[in-house]
This record gives sequence, C-alpha cells and structure tokens, in this order.
Amino acid sequence: MPQELRAVDWTGSSLALIDQTVLPHRTETREIRDVDGLVDAIQRLVVRGAPAIGAAGAYGVALALLQGEREGWSAEETRAAVARVRAARPTAVNLMVCVDRVMARFDEGLDAVLAEAAAVQREDVEANRAMGAYGADWLLKKVGVDRPLRVLTHCNTGALATAGWGTALGVIRELHARGLVEVVYADETRPLLQGSRLTAWELVQEGIPHYVQADGAAAGTILRGEVDAAVVGADRIAANGDTANKVGTVGIALACADAGIPFLVAAPTTTVDLTTARGADIHIELRGEDEVLEWSGVRTAPAESRGHNPAFDVTPGRLVTGLVTERGVLEISAGELPAHHLR
Ligand code: MRU
Repeated sequence: MPQELRAVDWTGSSLALIDQTVLPHRTETREIRDVDGLVDAIQRLVVRGAPAIGAAGAYGVALALLQGEREGWSAEETRAAVARVRAARPTAVNLMVCVDRVMARFDEGLDAVLAEAAAVQREDVEANRAMGAYGADWLLKKVGVDRPLRVLTHCNTGALATAGWGTALGVIRELHARGLVEVVYADETRPLLQGSRLTAWELVQEGIPHYVQADGAAAGTILRGEVDAAVVGADRIAANGDTANKVGTVGIALACADAGIPFLVAAPTTTVDLTTARGADIHIELRGEDEVLEWSGVRTAPAESRGHNPAFDVTPGRLVTGLVTERGVLEISAGELPAHHLR
C-alpha cells in the first residue's frame, strides 16, 4: 500500500499543503508561511474538504502567532488574523470548531497551540479509522448481500479531504481492505471536479476499481439498480440531521430513497453542529460565477448569462439512512438524532 498522504502537514515553522488545484496531473506542495497565504489557500481550494480545512485552520493559529512575532503584532492583531482564517469559508463547521479548540490555548503560547493542532490532526485520523470500520459493518448488514458492493460516492472525502484515511472514502477503503468492493461510481463533481480529479486519483493509488461518471448520471445509475449504497461526506450536520455537503448530494439521496438503498453520511463529530437547528440555517457558500460559466478558463456560456454557483446543498435528515461518526452509526431517517452521539 502506498504511504498515507498528508494533505496538511506542519514543517516546524510553516504549513505544507498538497495543492489540490493541480492534481491529478501534478503533485505539488505549497508552503504557507502567513495568514494571507492560508486564507487564499482555503478559498482557492488548494486545501479543501471539511476535516482538512479544520486541520489547516488549527495550524493557522500557530502561523498567526509566528507571523505576529515576526511583524510585531499585538495579541489583538494576532487574534484578528486568526478570525480571518476562521471565516475563510463559511459552510464546513470543522474550520470554526478546530480554530476555536486551538484558540482556547492561545494564551499559553506557541508550544501549547502546536500541541493542540497536532492533537486535532491525530484525532481526525483516528476518527476516520473508527468510522471506516463502523460504516463498513453497517453497510454490509443493511445491504445484506453475499458479494462485494457497488458503491456510489460524490466529491472527494479521502485522505486529501481530511488529516488522513478519509471519511466516506475511508468506509470504501475499509470495504476494499476486506475484499468487499466490486466497483465505485465516483461522480465527477461539477464544477471543480473533486470526484474525477481527486477521488479517482485516490482510488487509482489504492487499486480500487471505479468508474468516473457525470453528476447527472448518478440518479439513473441508482434507479437502474447498479448501485447497492451511496456513501458521502458532510460539511455541517444540523441538530435535526439535515446535512450540508457538496452540491449534487441531495439528488443522490432522493434517488437512494426512491430505490430503497442506503444513503450513508460519514463524518466526524467535529462536523456536527448542534447550535444549528436545521439545514435551512446553514450558511451555504456561493462561489464565483466563472466556475460554472467557464470550462478550464475558457468561457462556455453566452456572455450575457449569469452563473448560479452554490458550493453545497442540504440533504434533509429524513433522507439520511445512516450517519456514521467515530462513535458509531445513527439511523437518522428512523429518528436517531446527532445529539445522541454528542451528549
Ligand atoms: O468544496 P470542497 O471540495 O471543500 O467540498 C468538500 C465536500 O463537500 C466534502 O464532501 C466534505 O467536506 C467532506 S470531506 C471528508
């Protein structure tokens, strides 16, 4: 097995991020030394995926402290710089949760901040391993067939999107390790192609058989009976189980409900936000119009057209058959709420 990827790594004085905007054709690492660089990297999706931006934000507190020392900032100026990192993208709650967790040690200085950020990173990998095993067990039981599974996934939820291993892709990797994956349908994930560029790349590294398909193919593939279950990640899960994830996810959930197959959300408890009552309260990031009006930098839509580019959508909890966290599986559509794992 290839060495485990580290999308986010602390070098001792800076952050090393695998540049996810140039994969799969180039594997390049960007060294981030200051807060502006980190905010830009998060906003341009150099680093992306809810747990990965949480880990990057955690180390962002250390970056701000180091930059503040170099540039003579007051504690207030350093805190303001951290607040900019925390607000770099609005939907994935992991960014806020992880920054706040590390900021609780701000007054103790750099070593304490770095220790906390490293704990965030370590615990995310542990959570992913645990949810991989819980999720695989649950799926096998739910699908109840005596053969390897055909699984559909959307966006990228692998090692690149986390501190390591992956959430939904971690469940798929666990199934594959048990010899129980027939094929993965990886949605290409318009408009930024996290599925065809990143998930497919990770599946190739792992030797997992897969098809890349257009997002628009997903519902038909499910309704034709070619898929046993869908597994996706999440950016924020509200208290009632409504789940924000990459745009296109809700259509998959609707198709799964119609086909009567499991729709499993895999996310660490850092993605659960009990302070948000329902999905309608989740701030959905609207990204630049050019991402949908252009293809690879070339305008494809008429010059007069406007673009609508929500980066995420919300799947109602009633469509979420299972939510797997590092604590086990909750059957949300059957009435088990996220609070059952968090209180
Ligand atoms: O815009 P992105 O690429 O950051 O969106 C990522 C997703 O929607 C993922 O499914 C989610 O963050 C879970 S990653 C383990």
